[in-house]
Amino acid sequence: MIVKTMAGNEIPYAYAIASRSLDEQYLPDAFSFFMAQWPAGQLVAFDPSTGVAGFLVGGRLSGNRASVAILAVDALYRRNGLGDMLIEEFKKRAALEGRNIIQLEVRTSNLDAISFYEKRGFRKTELLRGLYNDGGDAARMVLFSGMC
Ligand SMILES: CC(C)(COP(=O)(O)OP(=O)(O)OC[C@H]1O[C@@H](n2cnc3c(N)ncnc32)[C@H](O)[C@@H]1OP(=O)(O)O)[C@@H](O)C(=O)NCCC(=O)NCCS
Repeated sequence: MIVKTMAGNEIPYAYAIASRSLDEQYLPDAFSFFMAQWPAGQLVAFDPSTGVAGFLVGGRLSGNRASVAILAVDALYRRNGLGDMLIEEFKKRAALEGRNIIQLEVRTSNLDAISFYEKRGFRKTELLRGLYNDGGDAARMVLFSGMC
């Protein structure tokens, strides 16, 4: 399994994983929007024989920030280190352009994901009430990476 830049023709596969994995539904256009904004910030975990197993959609924010807009690994492939690989590669790519602060929003009820991020150095900074379409709350989490 490798982590590489997402190709345009891989968007439907990433989108299908997002639809299966996340409560919040995204439009395929969201993937194209982020790809146009920052091609190198879109990643897939890919196996030549089985295809796309997970993905990360990243965004550029103002200043030295980047965001993890969407991250998901297909259920069959979880707990094999792919989520970790996607985050690590994204941190490297963000750092290449001086973006050492990585930010994301995660549903407060998604305890597994919150624990996953906390173990990777992200810290909760804010509660965003009603961020999701169904009224669910989000925690903003931030990682200050590559700083002493
Ligand atoms: C959150 C998510 C992306 C993590 O992806 P993942 O590929 O399972 O992540 P990893 O395998 O790198 O790490 C998950 C856990 O598996 C463990 N793990 C990794 N390789 C392992 C292995 N070979 N055997 C057993 N456990 C392993 C990791 O140590 C980690 O545990 P930890 O968090 O307690 O340290 C995935 O669970 C997911 O897609 N969830 C649904 C969508 C979602 O909630 N996305 C986030 C929304 S903001």
